[in-house]
Amino acid sequence: MAGSQDSRTAPRHEANDSSTNGHAAPGNGAAAHPRRRRSTAESMAASQRDISVSEFFAKNRHLLGFDNPRKALLTTVKEAVDNALDACEEAGILPEVWVHIETTGPGRYKVGVQDNGPGIVKKQIPLIFGKLLYGSKFHRLRMSRGQQGIGISAAGMYGVLTTGKPVKIASKTSPRKPVHYFEIQIDTKKNKPEILNGRGEGVDIEAGEKGKQQLEKWGIEWEDSVPHGTRVTIELEARYQRGRGSVDEYLEQTAIANPHVQLHFIDPENNQRTYTRSTETLPPEPKEIKPHPYGVELGMLATMLKDTKAPTLSQFLSSSFSRVSPAVAKKICDTAKLSTRSRPARIGRHEVDCLYKAIQETRISAPSTDCLAPIGEAALLEGIHHVVPGEFYAAHTRPPAVYRGNPFQIEVSLAYGGGSTATRVTLEQLKELLSESDARSLKQFLVTTFSGVGPDGAERIVKGSKLGTRKIPHKLKPKEIEILHQALQNVNLDEGSSMNVMRFANRVPLQFQQGACAITQTVQSTNWRSYGLSQSRGSLPSGPVSIMVHMASVWVPFTSESKEAVAGYPEIQKEIRLGLQAVGRKLGMYLRRRAHVKQEGERRNLFLRYLKEVAGAVSKLNNDDRDSLYEKLIAVAHKKTAAADLALDERGRPIRQPAAEEDYGGSVLIVEPNGQVASPGNDEND
Ligand SMILES: Nc1ncnc2c1ncn2[C@@H]1O[C@H](COP(=O)(O)OP(=O)(O)OP(=O)(O)O)[C@@H](O)[C@H]1O
Ligand SMILES: [Mg+2]
Repeated sequence: MAGSQDSRTAPRHEANDSSTNGHAAPGNGAAAHPRRRRSTAESMAASQRDISVSEFFAKNRHLLGFDNPRKALLTTVKEAVDNALDACEEAGILPEVWVHIETTGPGRYKVGVQDNGPGIVKKQIPLIFGKLLYGSKFHRLRMSRGQQGIGISAAGMYGVLTTGKPVKIASKTSPRKPVHYFEIQIDTKKNKPEILNGRGEGVDIEAGEKGKQQLEKWGIEWEDSVPHGTRVTIELEARYQRGRGSVDEYLEQTAIANPHVQLHFIDPENNQRTYTRSTETLPPEPKEIKPHPYGVELGMLATMLKDTKAPTLSQFLSSSFSRVSPAVAKKICDTAKLSTRSRPARIGRHEVDCLYKAIQETRISAPSTDCLAPIGEAALLEGIHHVVPGEFYAAHTRPPAVYRGNPFQIEVSLAYGGGSTATRVTLEQLKELLSESDARSLKQFLVTTFSGVGPDGAERIVKGSKLGTRKIPHKLKPKEIEILHQALQNVNLDEGSSMNVMRFANRVPLQFQQGACAITQTVQSTNWRSYGLSQSRGSLPSGPVSIMVHMASVWVPFTSESKEAVAGYPEIQKEIRLGLQAVGRKLGMYLRRRAHVKQEGERRNLFLRYLKEVAGAVSKLNNDDRDSLYEKLIAVAHKKTAAADLALDERGRPIRQPAAEEDYGGSVLIVEPNGQVASPGNDEND
């Protein structure tokens, strides 16, 4: 005991001494320099072995979006819903999706997602849900929500790891066929599925009431109104909480970007909601394309040459790449000083190098872009108008462009004047939101719960409420909640709020890693002051503005496997900037007009205030009739401030738009104070 105390208080070298005093050392030399067993190449070799992808991702689950329980719930729902929508669209079926989240214990939830898609054949089910990096979308260039082949199996793996409950899949491929039912868990060591039911074979369930009851017994709520489809059920450790970055927000934004989807949602408190589809037409089917030669890297080219079945170099080039005709292939071969008839497999390292350089030097037309299915300006406008209240809306779809040989397209829409979601929250909703929150301060609660509030706005709300900065959100008393609710309604957030940015990639809302995303970064680095918004350098502009940016591409360059942020390729940033500027210009025009109209109104008021006196004074001097002079003067004042006639509502907003609306260039909605919607310049589309 005394010895250990010594070692705690004494300086380091003395502590060593005291330990040698206390314990007999096995030999003089060893005590001074304790011999460490060093690893040798051979001993290290014994511990060097394969790492399976599933082991890797089980350890690094944050890379897949499972870093905290709240995000885990969202990621699970998102992976299942994205797959459902992909499958339906690929099969040409109007998607209808059912999402049910149930509480099964403290911090435990059961997520069930069903679609009316084509179903999955029996043999494939275990591989899809029980093996990471297995899928149909990785090896192709086609616009779809999924691309990696990790999504749903990772969610299943997380479920098994945190609750020990297997992933349950029911799938039906035709009305005449039975439902295949599997209970699966992933063997993380081997990255292989283990089938737990039906002696490792799964079971077939006959159609009808009996089959349905059987499934219910296993906790599967099969939606039997569909002729075919898939239902996946995963139980996991999670947290359900509304607000920003929640399942609710994801579903709502999915509905905006996918007006052809019908979504049914039952939340853990058994509230049921349906997002009804607003169009019956599927988006045009995106085509699959071959890679563009400019996008292929040297190593990739070498592998492709080795793997190809084409007998000649010329045929290899024209059959493996898009935009390479036999003539272009010949040009490439000539530049590389290779024969068009050389055998691809025989091409050596140095020659691959020459070929690669020759490709870069040859003029090849840009990839065809009919492989993209953008949302379109009309649907974008409608989508944002549907969910963000406001007075002015604009949308713009950029023409397709290319990064690293991959076609992509940027779309932007904007809503102005809506105010924040904070001002629309009811007292009941606020109570629920507060009770679910784990924020440590009111300010943090406001920023993380409501879109468009921002730190400044939050501070003003807290100040306005006089509740003090130290209150813990989930411990507020009912009276205090009422005060906070009042403050939310009363504080004018228009100046304090910052722009609300909604990001989408291939119609999927992105909710996390906002700061790491090329979209947010480009919004921040765009100069919004020239469009009438205030903005401090390098940050989001402030004002009651929401902006939605969509990137459609055959391959979205995400910054990580969790698909949360778009990587900042210069070509992509440039297109985003041009899109933002296009809607920015329309907003600027609107705001300038609004300000002008207001100014003219004030000028007229000024005239009117003094005209009577002016008329009196002049009539005395000239002996003119005062009243007729006054009338004439009024007529002049009205003429001089004619612009004000367009906008004499109490907020100085235009009641009717000036005649020259067309110069907005279309794709604009203006909501008049009486609630009527005008679409200036879009008349021909109406
Ligand atoms: N509901 C479904 N209906 C039909 N097929 C499905 C369904 N869910 C998944 N699949 C098939 O399973 C494959 C694997 O799905 P998974 O989510 O693991 O990867 P992914 O969607 O290809 O890519 P990502 O990892 O980016 O999501 C898909 O490529 C698809 O072919
Ligand atoms: Mg997927």
